[in-house]
Amino acid sequence: MSSTVVYLAYLVAAVLFILGIKNLTKPRTAVRGNQLSSLGMLIAVVVTLLDQQILSYSWIIVGMIIGGGVGTYLARTVQMTAVPEMVAALNGFGGGASLFVALANVADPSMGGNTIAQLSIAVTVLIGSVTLSGSFVAFGKLRELKVFSDGSLKIPGGTLTNAILFAVGLLLVLLHTNAPSGALILLLVAVAIVLGLALVLPIGGADMPVVIALLNSYSGIAAATAGFISGNTVLIISGSLVGASGLILTQIMCKAMNRSLTNVLFGVMAEGGETIDADEVYAGKVKSSSPEEVAMMLETAERVVIVPGYGLAMAQAQHAVRELANVMEARGTEVKYAIHPVAGRMPGHMNVLLAEAEVPYEQLVEMDEINPQFEQTDVAIVIGANDVTNPMAREDKGSPIYGMPILNVDKARNVIIVKRSLSPGFAGLPNPLFAKDNALMLFGDGKKAIVELTASLKEAD
Ligand code: TAP
Repeated sequence: MSSTVVYLAYLVAAVLFILGIKNLTKPRTAVRGNQLSSLGMLIAVVVTLLDQQILSYSWIIVGMIIGGGVGTYLARTVQMTAVPEMVAALNGFGGGASLFVALANVADPSMGGNTIAQLSIAVTVLIGSVTLSGSFVAFGKLRELKVFSDGSLKIPGGTLTNAILFAVGLLLVLLHTNAPSGALILLLVAVAIVLGLALVLPIGGADMPVVIALLNSYSGIAAATAGFISGNTVLIISGSLVGASGLILTQIMCKAMNRSLTNVLFGVMAEGGETIDADEVYAGKVKSSSPEEVAMMLETAERVVIVPGYGLAMAQAQHAVRELANVMEARGTEVKYAIHPVAGRMPGHMNVLLAEAEVPYEQLVEMDEINPQFEQTDVAIVIGANDVTNPMAREDKGSPIYGMPILNVDKARNVIIVKRSLSPGFAGLPNPLFAKDNALMLFGDGKKAIVELTASLKEAD
């Protein structure tokens, strides 16, 4: 195949990746985005297979069948709540694949005098190994495997150990680039694997999704540096895209959770939480309601905003919520959904759930756009959301979530909060919203409560 054709095909693939990512930014175009990126990847893979001197296609086919089979099985069977840990494992495999590409090239004598290739090999080994071991610790923590979550596995020395391991890693990279050696590379693998463990083991489970986004970025960078080893432009481009988008996602999540990346990486939690007494916040002020009473309120409501959170996922109430919205819309009520960037436990959690129930995309409104609309909202129905509606984040300077952007549901004329109890959410804090004058609690499992509410509203017709 002529090199011009190869480069043109790679260019087409790169453009498809970029268009794919652009389309992934909106729920309406996300499916097309996935298709465009997949087409780009197909072109890149086919051209690479035809262009490079492939030793044996039979092994490649065996690998594709085994890998594709395992991947298809996992994608079809994994529970929605287990997606973050699956992503963690996939990042680990990505880092591991780049590591093996680099290791395979160490033994290639034609790379001997090529400084760029040797530097790329060493950097890929460093980043790929950190990603591999770090991602599997993240997977183990999210899976709540005892060995990772009970704190028994520790690497002493904290930040100092990490700094030393990182410095030794860099030194080994330089030494190998200067005088390539298999022994140095094996030592580098060992140091980087321990560094990956040391970096992720101390991080609290709460911060794990942010760490996973970061590891995702590392796996992209490792792929990009692996591209430099073989001079494969499409690998450099796709790896860089993953690296950059992972970093942007990490930043968005940190901002939405009001955590700095340094705090996440060094395991520093915000302070001040222990002093807030739930009884003081709630005592005598919380009012509870019934489906019938809420239905009466909805009968006259013109504008309703539904605010989904983690409890919606736990209760699997998305279809019930869609049914309630249908009934309200049939009565002429305008219904919108307010989406907080970190509602739930993974990026896009609420979008995916609501898409499953075929909620029209145009009804999903992002936080910045919906917040000014709460004042004109007759009823805000909060279902299984807690932290993302906590006014402490806006008002209480001493609170650990102070500064976290929230959905201003308390500004609506009436707020209905559907949850099973007054238990706190992920941040472990009481929520003064529940005690506000305009708030009513509808206690119960999310799905059951919404089904009952819908039935009461239908009866009213
Ligand atoms: P949370 O603050 O975690 O609150 C969820 C609420 O759902 C709980 O208070 C719980 O109350 C209720 N719930 C649980 N099961 C339920 C059920 N079956 N029916 C009805 N309610 C149920 O959720 P949120 O408002 O979505 O906030 C997300 C939190 O997770 C934030 O603090 C965020 O920073 C954090 N976080 C998010 C991410 C991403 S990327 N999304 C990643 C890591 C951490 P009851 O027990 O009383 O029912």
